[in-house]
Amino acid sequence: MIEEVYEGDCREVLRRVPDVAIDLAYMDPPFYSQKVHKSQTRNGDSEFVFSDVWLSEQIYSDFIMECLVLVREKIKFTGSLFFHCDKSASHVIRTALDDVFGKDNFRAEIIWHYRRWSNAKRGLLNAHQTIFFYSKSSDYKFNEIYEDYSLSTNIDQLMQKRARDSRNKTIYARQSDGQVVLSGPKKGVPLSDVWQIPFLNPKAKERVGYPTQKPIELLKRIVSLVTDPGDIVLDPFCGSGTTLIAAKLLARGAIGIDISSEAVQLTRQRMQEPIVTDSKLMRMGKDAYDQHDGFAARHLAFFDYVPVQRNKGIDGILKEQIHGLPIYLRVQRNSETQHDAAVALAAATKDKGKGLLVVVATRDDLLGQPDYDDVVFLPSFELVRQYGLTAS
Ligand SMILES: C[S@@+](CC[C@H](N)C(=O)[O-])C[C@H]1O[C@@H](n2cnc3c(N)ncnc32)[C@H](O)[C@@H]1O
Repeated sequence: MIEEVYEGDCREVLRRVPDVAIDLAYMDPPFYSQKVHKSQTRNGDSEFVFSDVWLSEQIYSDFIMECLVLVREKIKFTGSLFFHCDKSASHVIRTALDDVFGKDNFRAEIIWHYRRWSNAKRGLLNAHQTIFFYSKSSDYKFNEIYEDYSLSTNIDQLMQKRARDSRNKTIYARQSDGQVVLSGPKKGVPLSDVWQIPFLNPKAKERVGYPTQKPIELLKRIVSLVTDPGDIVLDPFCGSGTTLIAAKLLARGAIGIDISSEAVQLTRQRMQEPIVTDSKLMRMGKDAYDQHDGFAARHLAFFDYVPVQRNKGIDGILKEQIHGLPIYLRVQRNSETQHDAAVALAAATKDKGKGLLVVVATRDDLLGQPDYDDVVFLPSFELVRQYGLTAS
């Protein structure tokens, strides 16, 4: 798989990259912040510096235009460009992108939103950056990504098919005998243009001390959205190499360029041994993270499921169905036996049509309980581990 990092001004180096060969170009150039960005590695051994000071907005705009024209030539007919910027010059960049890629090829303005905790300045807390998504043509590659439903979604909205009544009002579909009609497997909600991905905090393992370093998670999402394994990703302002690492982790080829020799050296080093921060927020989803019932979320972490909040008996639904039937999940609480959990789950799903019921057992107390034909009991990961420890 191609893995190249070049040192130099991208306007020069890009001439060495073959035309129409790139599936995704991600550009994260200086933002027109009119600052010199400086930072140190964690042990203080090296310092990284890049200047983002410009004599005028016009000079910045000309620079961006020149880069865009060169980058566009490298992108395949089915390829895309993601351009990362912020409020300092997003107005200039959007116009330049329209000119070079064409307004018809504008696909989205993505808002990367992250939490910040303090604001030294008067005014609104700055908590987002902008990523413009353009394609080279209307025939661009795009892989659908789905997110979990919001926990406030009602379970009936998730599971039941809709129909129209005689007044053309949307209602839940029912069979002639009154049984609900199920709506099939649930993929989730198509990814929106607002992305909640945590900013790298100062102590994150992934942080290498490069100024304006972006999270690998953000780049993995961009790479997954418009490329497939084996495709080639180009980053002409690669800095610490985040895009190249994301590409490598996802089995894509990668070409990076940076004018700073320290950045190129750092990128090569990171490519040898990528460190990715494991974010609880990303793993569990913002809603699951926010919910108070962390107990259920913790025991269901190994399932590919949709969490259900507004229902006392059901904790989640598996994303896959078995023989066309939904699978409802409940985690046994400390206050209940496995039998109680099964009863609660059965009661909660009674009027939901046919489905399979799974109780995730957190304690071994089923002995002496009645048999269940319609409920499967699975030991939680912690229960299995506990037994492993007891047996050894
Ligand atoms: C915003 S940073 C990129 C950060 C990067 N995405 C990361 O996650 O580490 C911009 C980078 O552009 C580089 N740069 C500035 N002018 C350049 C040019 N003309 N050609 C190539 N790289 C340039 C800087 O050295 C800096 O590393």
